[in-house]
Amino acid sequence: MADDLLRWRDEFPILSTSTYLISNSLGAMPRGVRDSLAHFADTWATRGVRAWHEGWWEMPITVGNILCDILGAPHGSITMHQNVAVAEAILASCFDFSGKRNKIVYSDMNFPSVMYLWEAHKRVGARIHTVTSDDGVIVDTQKMLDAIDETTLLVPMSHVLFRSAYIQDAKAITEKAHKVGAKVILDVYQSAGTVPVDLTALGVDFAVGGSVKWLCGGPGAGFLYVRPDLVSTLEPMYTGWQAHARPFGFEIGEIEYAADQFRFLNGTPHIPTLHAAKVGYEIIREIGVPAIRAKSKRLVARIEDRARGYGFKVTCPADPDRRGSTVAIDVPEGKRVCDELIRRDIVVDYRPKAGIRIGPHFYTTEEECDRTVDTILEIANAWNLGR
Ligand SMILES: Cc1ncc(COP(=O)(O)O)c(C=O)c1O
Repeated sequence: MADDLLRWRDEFPILSTSTYLISNSLGAMPRGVRDSLAHFADTWATRGVRAWHEGWWEMPITVGNILCDILGAPHGSITMHQNVAVAEAILASCFDFSGKRNKIVYSDMNFPSVMYLWEAHKRVGARIHTVTSDDGVIVDTQKMLDAIDETTLLVPMSHVLFRSAYIQDAKAITEKAHKVGAKVILDVYQSAGTVPVDLTALGVDFAVGGSVKWLCGGPGAGFLYVRPDLVSTLEPMYTGWQAHARPFGFEIGEIEYAADQFRFLNGTPHIPTLHAAKVGYEIIREIGVPAIRAKSKRLVARIEDRARGYGFKVTCPADPDRRGSTVAIDVPEGKRVCDELIRRDIVVDYRPKAGIRIGPHFYTTEEECDRTVDTILEIANAWNLGR
């Protein structure tokens, strides 16, 4: 079958030198990033301080607008930040944990940044309720629903779990949260750019994410979505001059927050990383996530079938509609096998309890997927590893 998406391969230099199957960790760099960073340097060199008023100042919003198109959000509702930990810290600083509604419900399958941040808020009165996963692959939706009650303030949850690629039922969890007056922070790091996300349709209050994975945006470009009707109700304590209604007034004393999403910004924005990140976003927006998802489901199923056919244990959710774009093959001595694959320029990674993780993206060929599984078999046989 002709694969139209393979026409993008030339845009990603690393694909010509290695079998790059690790977009679940660091998406391939688009060729255009070099030009975009050169454009940043040229602007700085030739326009100097005038650049702030020629686009730089608004970049945390204008770059966020590309993500709005990808994530089903209205323009202006996403601001750019350094990473998820920063984005959630900004949100956390909007809330008071000293009252009765101070419970935070999350699962032990959340990414550690998220857990460490909320656990630290116990110091200011937050009560943490951790929903545990029974099998280390899925989080039981009913258990999440049961944990959310009238004392729940926030539910920070991953859309796609980083450990297993399980897609959580964000809609059901958001509906329950809203029924009892709680708010949901949806972490779309592992879905953005590979699993369709419609923040408006989901109705979530907040969303966070970052760019190093499926968005091919590189490090240093996290983001924060705030539902437009909530903006005026939130006043982050984690703030700075870019959040002021009149930042260039340099006024003394308490902040008067900007009326719009600028209020979620803080200090001087990270202009170089925004130049790097937007190139990948533009490619994802042009292709469209539904086409990426269709291909990804096909490749993940292909890897799973081939690995199971060779007798390997595969770690991923059973239902193809409930799994993201990563599949893990759990071979004995997985770390050593992974190191050998990387030595042979097949770039994957290894996680204890999951196995060798393989994350195909829109630029991956079927042949690359087959070769990776076949090479694992070859190594396992040569080293007399069991199954
Ligand atoms: C679901 C999820 N959230 C967050 C992160 C990263 O967090 P941070 O941006 O704070 O480094 C990752 C990275 O793997 C992730 O998978």
